Amino acid sequence: MATTASRSQQIIEQAQRYIPGGVSSANRLVEPNLVFTRAQGAYLFDAEGRRYIDYHAAFGPPLLGHCHPEVQQRAAEAMASIDVVGVGSSELEAQLAQKICEHMPSAEKVLFCNSGSEATYAALRLARAVTGRQKIIKFQGCYHGWHDAVLMNVISPADKVGQPDPLSAGMLPQAIENTLVLPFNDLAAVEQVMQEQGSEIAAIILELIPHNIGTVLPHQEFVQGLRDLTSQHHAVLIFDEVVTGFRHGLGGYQKALGVTPDLTTMAKAIANGFPLAALVGRADLLDHCRPGGDVFFAGTFNAHPASVAASLATIEILERPDSYPHLFDLGTRMRDGLTAMVQRHGLRATVAGFGSVFLLYFMEPPIESYEDLLRNDAETFVTYRRALIKRGIYELPVNLKRNHISLAHTAADIDESLAAADAVLTSFS
Ligand SMILES: Cc1ncc(COP(=O)(O)O)c(C=O)c1O
Repeated sequence: MATTASRSQQIIEQAQRYIPGGVSSANRLVEPNLVFTRAQGAYLFDAEGRRYIDYHAAFGPPLLGHCHPEVQQRAAEAMASIDVVGVGSSELEAQLAQKICEHMPSAEKVLFCNSGSEATYAALRLARAVTGRQKIIKFQGCYHGWHDAVLMNVISPADKVGQPDPLSAGMLPQAIENTLVLPFNDLAAVEQVMQEQGSEIAAIILELIPHNIGTVLPHQEFVQGLRDLTSQHHAVLIFDEVVTGFRHGLGGYQKALGVTPDLTTMAKAIANGFPLAALVGRADLLDHCRPGGDVFFAGTFNAHPASVAASLATIEILERPDSYPHLFDLGTRMRDGLTAMVQRHGLRATVAGFGSVFLLYFMEPPIESYEDLLRNDAETFVTYRRALIKRGIYELPVNLKRNHISLAHTAADIDESLAAADAVLTSFS
């Protein structure tokens, strides 16, 4: 008897017929291959109508929750009166740039683009232009986007750590050679490279918290050391706050650490799901990118009115006194609940995170660099998440990926998720 394909199955078949792999971004094709047709607040709904509490959060944007009504309304209002005109200054863009400068310690001026990759590309080009140097330093485990200068050494297999690990064919060998990859939190390694090659280093770029491998917290001395070394050697310090910007505070994580870089990149949560990114930093550096300046910066959709309006609305909501306490309290509730569970079940596991970010590694501490995370039991990590998905809790079933809580989540959502985690972990112990 012929069986009818489910709605999900039909969508997957059509997508895979016309789109390579059926998806338009790496890491979107996972097992189980679910098709979500609705996203609302803290929840996702699949094509069969099943509800999931969403902690994947599209890798981070919907900080206020999916389809936030105030954000949607402000974006729609902006679009009702103007779309892209592609010439001249715009009122909302100027307001947003001012707001960001008021909040972000490193922001004296702002340039808008559409994605985190564009922002880090521009930051590195600018750093090379102002220093006249070619090499950059990045850290093992940090992801900064898909372009040749940085697409390497993120979640590397053990035998690739300590050597170039490019993530795509077709990357320019010269770009790969000019990127030096060092261990995170290892100031001595950076000092040594700066001592030997400091006059060739244009920039050091880092995720302040490498959230692309979950959560590895930086040592204050490490970040301060990078600030001192880059100043001493006249290199540009770039904090990639694409994940942490707005999520950990309107001033980014740099405000919490009290260390100010020369340039900062932001994207993801800054417009709560609308495509917007920003390169912010010292005015004397960003001014190189002014029209007619020596560094070219452009984009047809840069500072798109819908995204800019969405970002202004997002900032207003985050400025309300209860917003960050709610996000951080729920993060603590989740991490505390998981920690108690790990102890109760006697598991070899570690709860990590900061603010609204959390995850459960299946390994013992310490966790100070990517090299430590090679001890994580990747199979159990993914099995655990697939079991949670069966219970309606969506954590991306990919090794080392972090989870995000939004303003739309409630204590009841966290408790429901903890109960599901308990049931799954009981079957592990
Ligand atoms: C820290 C960081 N920087 C840059 C990027 C690239 O951003 P996008 O995917 O918007 O190009 C990402 C994306 O995950 C990221 O996590």
